[in-house]
Amino acid sequence: MKGRKIRENVYLLGAIDWNRRLFDALMPLPDGTSYNAYLVQGSQKTALIDTVDPTKWEVLQHQLEGVAKIDHIVIQHMEQDHSGSLPFVLQRYPQATVVTNPRCKGMLIDHLHIAEDRFITVEDGAKLQLGNKTLTFVYTPWVHLPETMSTWLEEDRVLFSCDFFASHLATSDVWANETTTYEPAKRYYAEIMMPFASVIVKNLAKLKPYPVEAICPSHGPLYRRPAFILEAYNEWATGEPKNMVCLPYVSMHGSTELLVHQLTASLVEQGVAVQQFDLAVAELGQLALSLVDAATIVIGTPTVHAGPHPSVVSAAFIANALKPKAKYATVIGSFGWGSKTVEKLVAMLDQLKVELLDPVMCKGQPRAADYAALAQLANTIAAKHAALASRDP
Ligand code: FEO
Repeated sequence: MKGRKIRENVYLLGAIDWNRRLFDALMPLPDGTSYNAYLVQGSQKTALIDTVDPTKWEVLQHQLEGVAKIDHIVIQHMEQDHSGSLPFVLQRYPQATVVTNPRCKGMLIDHLHIAEDRFITVEDGAKLQLGNKTLTFVYTPWVHLPETMSTWLEEDRVLFSCDFFASHLATSDVWANETTTYEPAKRYYAEIMMPFASVIVKNLAKLKPYPVEAICPSHGPLYRRPAFILEAYNEWATGEPKNMVCLPYVSMHGSTELLVHQLTASLVEQGVAVQQFDLAVAELGQLALSLVDAATIVIGTPTVHAGPHPSVVSAAFIANALKPKAKYATVIGSFGWGSKTVEKLVAMLDQLKVELLDPVMCKGQPRAADYAALAQLANTIAAKHAALASRDP
């Protein structure tokens, strides 16, 4: 596919990775992804903004046929899905300089062994003149690594935002269909950006003075109506958690599952939404999505070697790392003869700012007293959520 024009002398390049199904050897990509690069041709100089994953260099190479000169390669973020083809581009354009911030420069030297004399470093707010087009570099740290920055193309009112506002969505569309892009963008936020919600708020405020007419991220389609994704980010990062329980669980012989189903039924009766995830078959991205909104996390687990099931350990580690905005958490589950499950799981959730509710752990199959405790837990959750909803915004 050739480069596609998004503004006069501004082109979307890059590769659509239709069949990639895993990112960072961890996160499923049900919709594939793309690696977007951009060519900005000013009256005097030409800049390439980001490159592509090295597995897709041939695609970018083909798109660059006929581009005789690139003066600057702007690298907004060091991760190789964007910078990985930089060595090839530098080889093809031996006069080109790499324009980035000092922190990213160090990372590129470490990870890609780029020669130091190829770099021009830019400070926050620095401008780069391409003739009749001007690039301004806006540091947007921690979306999602410390060196990430965005690039503002003043004359065309276009913001190149790299991973910020991105989505893992393979599509031949240049511009986002808001209906079909919402969930992939939210999922990207959940998996990549959510741990940095407080910094995202600062970066959103920092971008506010720019009269942005298009946002061009480095994965997924572009936004011709910036308010769509800016408002979504604001809601995901700052909105109150919803009247919903995220309930990841594992059950080996059915006891924990009985608890899960009973608690779900009691919660639903009281008007609390529940999203269950059987971790034996659930997809991690769906769990991450649920964590964006849930006011309460209930983890269901049997006891294995006196602790939680290993799949629950993995899910708890991810939930803790993603730092969702849940206000309450607890554990339900079962054991055969003894258990340190609750203590071990609670210790794993140290990054969550949650009130811990009374756990319900049953010995063997649940009895009437266990079901009564579950009913009490459901009452408590419903009351806590109602109190949350009645708070002043
Ligand atoms: Fe898309 Fe953080 O790389």
